[in-house]
Amino acid sequence: MTARIIALSNQKGGVGKTTTAINLATALAACNNRVLVVDFDPQGNTTTGFGIDKRSLNHSTYSLLMGDSTLAESTVPTQVPNLWLVPSTIHLSGAEVELVPIMARENRLKEALAEATQTYDYIFIDCPPSLGLLTINALVASTDILIPLQCEFFAMEGISQLFKTFELVKKNLNPKLEVLGVLLTMFDKRNNLSQQVVSDVRQHLGNKVFDTIIPRNVRLSEAPSHGAPGLIYDVKSPGSQAYIRLAAELMQRFAAPALTSATQGMPEAA
Ligand SMILES: Nc1ncnc2c1ncn2[C@@H]1O[C@H](COP(=O)(O)OP(=O)(O)OP(=O)(O)O)[C@@H](O)[C@H]1O
Ligand SMILES: [Mg+2]
Repeated sequence: MTARIIALSNQKGGVGKTTTAINLATALAACNNRVLVVDFDPQGNTTTGFGIDKRSLNHSTYSLLMGDSTLAESTVPTQVPNLWLVPSTIHLSGAEVELVPIMARENRLKEALAEATQTYDYIFIDCPPSLGLLTINALVASTDILIPLQCEFFAMEGISQLFKTFELVKKNLNPKLEVLGVLLTMFDKRNNLSQQVVSDVRQHLGNKVFDTIIPRNVRLSEAPSHGAPGLIYDVKSPGSQAYIRLAAELMQRFAAPALTSATQGMPEAA
């Protein structure tokens, strides 16, 4: 199988891109998929979220992008079987400027990932909260874009700009790029506004919105400080269970083999 390469993108900050990258990747890896996560944000939250000490790294997405390391050299294993990571450090923040004079600078990540498309089933690229050159590189390298939207008042703000960027990249740089889906995150059932946002977003974006909604769940936000994905930290939590359902829905969208063992080796769900 050729890898599905999925960019998690929304220029709005704090909407759940990183939490989704970590936990969706973990759920898919638990279903015997080979998964690579590319931390493409200089904040390096995905790297920290997997419990990886940035000071111990010889290579990262920065060296990969600048051609100073190969993908194999830049990839590290994680605590999750079947799941590998290309970590990020703050050095990546210099890349947008340093790439400016370089020819075909939008293609750097695509070229760097080319050798991995037969190795993995899924590659996730966790984008920074901007629509700059890093995000363009991610969209050029991807087959699909997954857009997390937080269930709050300004959820849809900026979404038209994001779709415009998607259209531009599709037209000029990557005709195969598709919108895989919009994911509603941090849903709070006690909050009427959350319900309102869900119905507004479904009305505007229709079947592009995943059926699965990720609830606001403190276990998901605690997990990174323990250096573990939510699914490892507390698989029974409603947040982890939602990401397992999302993995099943995603595999269905791709008509891939059905979810069989998302909780294999993990405690029984409550
Ligand atoms: N479903 C959830 N329930 C509770 N907290 C959550 C949930 N999803 C994310 N969070 C928390 O919200 C914050 C923002 O989430 P996250 O880092 O995943 O967003 P992001 O879009 O990657 O942010 P950035 O744009 O800064 O990269 C984090 O502290 C995270 O732990
Ligand atoms: Mg993030």
